[in-house]
Amino acid sequence: MVAVLVLHGPNLNLLGSREPDIYGPATLDQINAQMARFAASYNVDLACFQSNAEHELVDRIQQAADDGTEWILINPAAFTHTSVAIRDALAAVSLPFVEVHLSNPDSREPFRHHSYLSDLAIGKICGFGPDSYLLGLQAIINKIDASRNS
Ligand code: DQA
Repeated sequence: MVAVLVLHGPNLNLLGSREPDIYGPATLDQINAQMARFAASYNVDLACFQSNAEHELVDRIQQAADDGTEWILINPAAFTHTSVAIRDALAAVSLPFVEVHLSNPDSREPFRHHSYLSDLAIGKICGFGPDSYLLGLQAIINKIDASRNS
């Protein structure tokens, strides 16, 4: 079984009521439940963690280096555009990760166009609402399968 850690950044706990015209009607619990069902069908051990605090996300990333996590799926939310600390944590643990966004930051305000993480990510999926997470998870599963078969 492969362990995948899903990280959600600030304000994503408000999904469902937060700017639904941009982020859609699904709550974070619904998104996590959908991913859990998907993961179970592929024998993936999924852990989900959300925080509004940068240091808690940094701590969780550091913990991932020692708890058997093999891949990270992260929606850093606003920290995408601000956090050298989260970038450095991901670089430090050296775990492969996929960056996801519900919206397409590149089609929004200019300050959302820069990500501190993208150049370290294996890949990035954005603009598909909750499907961004599922597509990101599918991409990770495909990578895992490819590495097993190589
Ligand atoms: C987001 C996009 C970010 O720009 C924003 O700050 C978020 C959510 C997304 O999923 O579309 O909080 O990461």
